[in-house]
Amino acid sequence: MDVDTGTDDAVAIMFAALHPDIDLVAITTVNGNVPLEQTTDNTLRVLEWIGRGDIPVYAGMNMQIARQDFPAPRAKRRDPKVHMPVLPLPEPKGSRQATSAPQFLVDAFGTEPGMTLVAVAPMSNLATAIALDPAFVGNVVELVIMGGGIFRSNMTASAEFNVWADPEATAVVFSAGFSKITLIPLDATHQARVSLAQCAALRELDTPASKVAAEVIEFRIHGYQLNALAGEVPDSAPVRDALCIAALLEPSVIDLRRVNVVVETVGEYTIGATVIDHAFLTKREPN
Ligand code: RIB
Ligand code: CA
Repeated sequence: MDVDTGTDDAVAIMFAALHPDIDLVAITTVNGNVPLEQTTDNTLRVLEWIGRGDIPVYAGMNMQIARQDFPAPRAKRRDPKVHMPVLPLPEPKGSRQATSAPQFLVDAFGTEPGMTLVAVAPMSNLATAIALDPAFVGNVVELVIMGGGIFRSNMTASAEFNVWADPEATAVVFSAGFSKITLIPLDATHQARVSLAQCAALRELDTPASKVAAEVIEFRIHGYQLNALAGEVPDSAPVRDALCIAALLEPSVIDLRRVNVVVETVGEYTIGATVIDHAFLTKREPN
């Protein structure tokens, strides 16, 4: 998994790390919801809290591959009402691995073909791995990404955060020739909301993972309520990154269409917009 932990990343990590049908080999971290140091620290906290400190964590890119302008001056980082800078968990005892995330990705997929990569963060690590070794692309069986939107956006009027934060990296990934990319857009995550009642049920399980999942999801629900938009479902919130793990385990939770997706990198108002040819209006090949 490539993450920028992050409240929903934390839930996705726990889901994958504890599910018996998933062998979570490693986690790579990147600049995103919070700076790299903090996404890495938060990831270590989550893993140790649930007794999976054995899963190695590799830190990667602390900024975008081409731009110098994130977070300032384009915009602030993710909404602090939805993402906590520091997760409410004990300080980690362990530390990151010495190898950089992009190098680890190249090495790991090169020696162990057949693995799936789940990317729920800006794609700076992935694009850098491709630049280090283009053969990396052919070694990934499936790339599952939380990113983009068809009719929804959450960073600008046209862009979703993971794509917007490093649009050039996203463009590299979308055009790299991966054999299978499953893109889970904002639209899908809004149909997979978790409610306050479900948080209460989670808390009743009384496990380390269930308690922290309940806490961070309730935090998200509260944040979404503060930001309330007309038409939002009350007392619930999408837990976006976790839907990628759910879809891996149970493909029937999502509907897939093979379409072409490109990302806007030069628009005056549309940097980071995913242009999804859902009506097959172009001659661009599905990617
Ligand atoms: O836009 C939602 C995405 O941005 C999620 O991955 C969230 O964790 C943030 O990275
Ligand atoms: Ca994320």
